[in-house]
Amino acid sequence: MNAIDMHSHFFPREWEDLGRRFGGEWPSMKHLGDGKAMVMVGQKEFRPVYAACWDAATRLEEMDRDGVDLQVMCATPVLFAYARPVAQALYCAQLFNDAGLELAAQGKGRLKTLCQVPLQDTDAACRELSRAMKAGHLGVQIGNHVGERDLDDAGILAFLQHCAAEGAAVLVHPWDMLGGVRTARWMMGWTVSMPAETQLSIVSLILGGGFDRLPKDLRICFAHGGGSFAFLLGRLENAWHNRDLARGKSALPPSRYTERFYVDSAVFDARALRLLVEVMGEERVMLGSDYPFPLGEQRVGKLIRDMEGLGDAARRKLLLDNARRFLGL
Ligand code: CO
Repeated sequence: MNAIDMHSHFFPREWEDLGRRFGGEWPSMKHLGDGKAMVMVGQKEFRPVYAACWDAATRLEEMDRDGVDLQVMCATPVLFAYARPVAQALYCAQLFNDAGLELAAQGKGRLKTLCQVPLQDTDAACRELSRAMKAGHLGVQIGNHVGERDLDDAGILAFLQHCAAEGAAVLVHPWDMLGGVRTARWMMGWTVSMPAETQLSIVSLILGGGFDRLPKDLRICFAHGGGSFAFLLGRLENAWHNRDLARGKSALPPSRYTERFYVDSAVFDARALRLLVEVMGEERVMLGSDYPFPLGEQRVGKLIRDMEGLGDAARRKLLLDNARRFLGL
């Protein structure tokens, strides 16, 4: 085995009309023919997608093209339903968790999955995680916040503790982005707000004392290279040392917590990846592409494979070994 892509997404070819079942606007798939489709939210176009989202053969073909041996798929944050009643979010989670396993079953052992859970309710989230782990998921994808609650929220910390106990890998994915109307144009929600969301989550977990309370064997990864975190760690560190107000509840300076989490490699720039490896360490960065979406790496693994100045041993860690450890394989 040479490479594991630990951050990719799927949509089933079709699924139950959740708007009819529950009311309100839910995502659905509008097929356009020729392997193309549009993900809709209510009547609004959300994202153009193609057959790789739902067709295992297309995925395997493109994995072969890119030299990816194993791919970890999760559903998409637009399906989290954290703002809905817990029963609806649980129903939705189970629907897509089972659909993910069905798609993985067609992947000749090369497709694995992370589940989703109704994170707005800690007990329901823990129960669905346990069910999903028994059914064959490797872990869980969670949104980086639930309304106003960040990752240092007591309920979310309890869920993360449960993940550690179950041996579930956790991928934290930004969603429900800050910025409102000011970032509504030109996909700035994705290009500007998403990295800030992810940074905010890491900082909340550190300064909220979350890492001090979580077990050391929790395997947790932040998407998109951890967003703005690595580049701005110096600013955070400086504030921690020089302003009491900025210190929060963390026992140690922020830079001491980089050994507690992973980030993926979806940063699209060799200079950014170099900085990321320097800040996080070569044990903590792993191939994650956001395949098969338009804002994902278009040739999965190319950034790592082509990066100059990265030794063979380190390259292997980024492409393979770190993901193996993170996923518990
Ligand atoms: Co993603």
